[in-house]
Formats: sequence, structure tokens, C-alpha cells
Amino acid sequence: MEDLESLKTQIINNINSALDIKALEEIRVSVMGKKGILTEQMKGLGVLPLEQKIETGKKLNVLKAEFEQALNARKEVLETAELNKKLATETIDVTLPVRPETQGRIHPVSKIYEEVVAIFGQMGFEVAEGPDIEDQFHNFNALNMPPNHPARQMQDTFYLPHSANEDFDMDKSYVIRTHTSGMQIRTMETKKPPIRIIAPGRTYRSDYDATHTPMFHQVEGLVIDKTTTMAHLKGCLYDFVKAFFELDEIPVRYRPSYFPFTEPSAELDIGCLKTKTELKVGAGNDWLEILGCGMVHPNVLKAGGIDPDEYQGFAFGVGLDRLAMLKYGIPDLRTFFESDVRWLKNYGFSPLDFSSMTGGLSNNGGQTR
Ligand code: DAH
Repeated sequence: MEDLESLKTQIINNINSALDIKALEEIRVSVMGKKGILTEQMKGLGVLPLEQKIETGKKLNVLKAEFEQALNARKEVLETAELNKKLATETIDVTLPVRPETQGRIHPVSKIYEEVVAIFGQMGFEVAEGPDIEDQFHNFNALNMPPNHPARQMQDTFYLPHSANEDFDMDKSYVIRTHTSGMQIRTMETKKPPIRIIAPGRTYRSDYDATHTPMFHQVEGLVIDKTTTMAHLKGCLYDFVKAFFELDEIPVRYRPSYFPFTEPSAELDIGCLKTKTELKVGAGNDWLEILGCGMVHPNVLKAGGIDPDEYQGFAFGVGLDRLAMLKYGIPDLRTFFESDVRWLKNYGFSPLDFSSMTGGLSNNGGQTR
């Protein structure tokens, strides 16, 4: 009896101090395995007198149950500890940067897009978006460019093919928009004046060299109200170029020009310094053309369903990619669309530097690139 009690204490102690599952299993085998202590004791029961056999047998059974319970309890403790240890070494920090790149980059065109929207947004302009595939009414006719108008030839238009069973008719076919100016008409069709929108987006022309790509980006601007004048146009665009180039002063001049959809029409030049290696905006004796603009032609207002005797307004169109090249010193437009990650790493922007008029357009605390 005493033997059994001390055996029990010792075994329970062993179980409770087993350091891992393997050690625990060894203890189990040594106690309850084929040749285990308890098994041997049970085997020894056979030689005992009946009464003693019954009594000792009971005790041994109780002991067995106690051991099993202790073993299970310890097993659970050890398994939990092992799992926790494993989990601790296998944690994945999902906030760690991906490799090999430390972070993604914002494409210069997206950056300029954000900047332009921030500037005009603060002036109270809304952003309007329209389709890349355009009908000729919106892309040409409504903009005072009827079929055979010479200005159509200037635009190197991509015409879309008809379905196989239709004859191709250039005048009826859809185009991929050659400029964002069609958005002037789409806006007039859906909004009542006063109108103040910018329409940034993709545009397409069959052209390819260092400063032209078949797909490029423009932003269109349109303001229509009863008393909008050319003075508003000049003030608005002057504020825009100053904000965009982040300069307090910048020489500008409006040169008379021609666009079918504006009358009078002008081009805006900004003062710059051109050297063999550099182009510095904001000072110097040279001029650089940066956008086309003018007072919306009465025919265009009419085509958009607006009475030109009651309303007037101004419009402008800017090449976004060209602005990006100028502002960030990128020499070749074609590289914009080659999807080269090395280029993007060099010319791209941190996604965390969001452009805003209050927080900074291109440079939020010097962390731009
Ligand atoms: N649509 C013209 C182009 O692609 C740019 C332009 C010029 C837009 C004058 C205008 C404007 O709204 O008034 O070359």
C-alpha cells in the first residue's frame, strides 16, 4: 500500500515536470506500456489471494485513471506551449515592405493629374469625365468643325472600323477622341450654367516622336456664365500657372491664335530660360507655349444647347504630359508609356505625398521622390 502511494506521488511528479511531449510519452510507456510499472503490478495480481486481488485491483485501476488524467492534463499544457512557441516564431509582419521594391510609385502623369485637379478644385471647378471612344458630333461637328473642315486634318485622327457588314464611312465612324474638347459639349448637354468644369483624360493622335505619343493626356477647362469675360480667362489661367509651377511671379503672354471652337482664341506662353541642357521656367528672355484657350464660340454654345445671347464663357486645353515633362525635367515623352520600373523608380512619386493646395502640390516636406 505504502509502496503504491509513494509510487503514485513520484509518477505524478514526473508527469507534471515533463518538459515536452516526448518526455511525457516516455513516462507513459514506463508506467502503462507493455512492461510499465503499473502493467507489471497488474500482471502480479494473479498470484494474490482473492480478496487481496480484488482490493489491490481496484486501487490499481483508480491509480491508472489518475495517471491517465494527469498525463492528459500535462499533454494539453505542453501542446499549448508548443503551439504558442511555434506561432511566435512564425509571425508574419504584413506591414513589412515588399521586396525587391520598397514601395510603389505614382506615375508622373497621375501626379500632374492630381496637381491640376487640386488647383482647379480650389478655384471651384468640378471634374468631368467622358468616354475615350467619341462620336464625330462631340469630337468635331459640335465644336464648329463640320466635315471637310481643314482643322480636322490637323488632328491625325484614329477612326474606328465599322462592323464587318457595313461600308466604312469616315464621316459617320466613331473616333478615339483627338482632344478633350468634346467634353465641353457633353457638359453643356448635361449641366445648366453657371458651369465650371475641368475634364482631364486620355486623348489619341497618330503621331510619334520625342514629344508626341499616339496616346497622351489633356485637361480641358470650361467656364460659362452670363458675365464671363476674357479678363476672367486671363486671371484664372495666370493663377493656374503660378500655382502649378509653384512660383509667386511668372511672366506670361497671351498670343492671338486660332481654334475653331473659340473666338477670339489665344495661346498662353510663359517666360523661361532655355539653355542647351536646361529649361528653367519663370525667368529669362524666352517664351514657352503651354496651352490653348479662348472665348467659347457662339456656334459651340448653340451646339451644346446654350443660348449664346444669354451666356458666354471661356475654354482652355492643356497637355498634361507636356506639363509633367516641363515641371519634372523628363526629356522624352515616349518613356512615359514604356512601363519600365527603373524609369518609374527614378521619375515616380511617393504614394504618400498627396497633392493638395494646403499641404503642398509636388513637395510635401521634401519627401517627393
Ligand atoms: N483642343 C485643342 C487641342 O487639342 C486644345 C484647346 C485649345 C482646347 C483651345 C480649348 C481651347 O478648349 O479653347 O489642340
